[in-house]
Order: sequence, then structure tokens, then C-alpha cells
Amino acid sequence: MQEKIDELVSELKEKFASVTNMKELNDLKVEYMGKKGIITELSSGIKDVVNEKKKEYGMHVNTLRTAFNDGFETFKTRLEEEMVNQKLKEETIDISLPSDKLQRGSKHPFNRIIEEVEDLFVSMGYDVVDGPELEDDEHCFRLLNYTVGHPARDAQDTFYIDEEYLLRTQTSASQSRVMQANTEKTPIRVICPGKTYRRDDDATHSHQFGQVEGLVIDKNISLADLKGTLEIFARRLLGEDTKVRFRPSYFPFTSPSCEVDVSCFKCGGKGCNLCKGTGWIELLGAGMVHPNVLRMGGYDPDVFTGFAFGTGLDRLAMFKYAIPDIRYMYTNDIRFLKQFDACDLSDKS
Ligand code: DAH
Repeated sequence: MQEKIDELVSELKEKFASVTNMKELNDLKVEYMGKKGIITELSSGIKDVVNEKKKEYGMHVNTLRTAFNDGFETFKTRLEEEMVNQKLKEETIDISLPSDKLQRGSKHPFNRIIEEVEDLFVSMGYDVVDGPELEDDEHCFRLLNYTVGHPARDAQDTFYIDEEYLLRTQTSASQSRVMQANTEKTPIRVICPGKTYRRDDDATHSHQFGQVEGLVIDKNISLADLKGTLEIFARRLLGEDTKVRFRPSYFPFTSPSCEVDVSCFKCGGKGCNLCKGTGWIELLGAGMVHPNVLRMGGYDPDVFTGFAFGTGLDRLAMFKYAIPDIRYMYTNDIRFLKQFDACDLSDKS
């Protein structure tokens, strides 16, 4: 028996030594320890051994079992280590390889314009005020003197969330909020820049765009104050030689209302493709705050007057930086975003 066990142990060692992967190791386990395995069968053979030899027989079988268990653990550990090492080798990162160059844009034209407009008005004593983009009909329309059924409320233009809520179509909605928050407190001097939304989409219109609203309320505010303010605004932003003209217009929340054009800063007023040969570019809408709007905002129109103006920020950026399509502003194209570092008005190409 001793001899037979010695033989089995050395055979087992050879088999362990030739194992190259986990499957082979597990196959070996079945061969020796499985239901019909060598060691299992030897163990059950004890019943045929005479009593006085049973102990010795059992010890021999245990020698083989121990040899198997030790060998199994040793080779299992070795194979696992090999697998980890192989994985580490395969996943090694070559840190000497050159990486993709990180692309940097520059400050977005939209942010440039907002910062410029804010700096200018803050220097004139204005506050910068934020308003909600998710607005209600009351602030976006009703408090701004839009009658029920006014075409501007049309679902063709407005993104309605439900009967009451909508995405603001104009930053003018901030006018009603500012008045409500200040009731009868004066002076009010605010600008409200922010995002606005309309159901539009082509080269010069986007469903989302930026506007800045201005509102001034005090005693004795006149059209002359509005004109002076907007002339400063246009000249600072577009160049000191810019000419400004006021055309009568209509907005429900201002009376009188006007639209303000500036001389084309590309051709200086001679006429070109940018101004479509007219020499003028439409810049903004403005007017004296309508008495109804003042009243609904909590200001007595017999005591207080005010002016308001609103302009598209994308439009301003497009003019200033000669951007031909509003959609470039929102596509995040690095080639577009790289262009603005050295840009100023003298660069009109
Ligand atoms: N809210 C107007 C628009 O989106 C622009 C505007 C016109 C704003 C006249 C004003 C204003 O404050 O007085 O077209």
C-alpha cells in the first residue's frame, strides 16, 4: 500500500506540474476528489479492509488527500497570481505616448456682450436683476398691458407649459417683477439680462436667445432721458462714431414707443450687405412706460414716469463679431469659440 500511495503521490505531483490554467486544475479536482475520483474511491474502499489494517489504510489515503489539497492550493495561488500579472501587463499604460492636445476656446461672444452691457449700466448706477425663465402669463403679458387675445400670446410664438405657465418670450417680464417687488420705491434703475424663448428656428432666430431689458422709474423721467441713455449705450458698445435714430413704433407696455436704429458699423452708413443697403441696423425697442403698466405695478402714473428698453443679446453679439448664423452661438464648435480672443469692433471681416 505504501508503495502504491507513493506512486500515486508522485503521479499527482507530475499532473499538478503540467497544469497551465484553472480549467485543468479544476478537472484534476474532479479526477481525484469528484464522486468517482481516485481519492474518493480509495476512501470508500476502507470498508473492505480488515479491521486491524483500517487505521493504516486510512493514514495512507490521508497522505494522498493532503498531497492533493496542498498541491491544489499552491497551484491555485500560483495561477491566480499569473492571471493578475498577465492582466497588469496587458493593461499597462505607456505614459510616454503623446496625448491628444486639450483644445481651448475663448470667452463666449454671448458672455462678452453681457459683461460689456452690465459694466456699462452698472457704471451708470443701474442694478443687475435676474428673473425666472419659467414665467407666468401674468408677468410676461397681463401686467405688461397685453390684452386677452393679443397676438404676442399666440402659441405659435410662445412655449406654453400649461394654461398659466410659459417660457418667457421677453425679458420685459422682469419689468413687472421689479415693479411688484419695489412698489412705489424709487428710483428704479435696473437691467435684466437673461434667456428668452420663442417658437422660432432659422439663421437669424433661435428657439432660445438672450435679451437684456432696461427699466428706469422715478419722478420726472422723460423721453430725453431715454434718448440720452440709449445713445450712450449704442456708442459705448458699437463705437463712438455710431449714429442713432429713433423711429416711432408700438409695444403694448410703452407709450410712446420707438425702435432704435444705429448707423451700420460695417459700412459706416453707406449701405452694405449687413445693413441690406439701408445704412441702418435695427438695435432695440424702447419707450416710456405705459401708465397702465405703472399702475398695475403699484406706481401712480400721475406721480411717476419711466422708460424701458429691450434688445437681443445674440443679435448684438452677431453684429459686433460679424457672426452670420445665430446657431453658431449654441453648437459649441471649438473652431467657432476660438475666434474671439483678439476680436474687437475694428475687426469686421
Ligand atoms: N420685449 C420686446 C421684444 O421682445 C422688446 C422691447 C420693446 C422691450 C420695447 C422694451 C421696450 O422694454 O420698451 O420684442
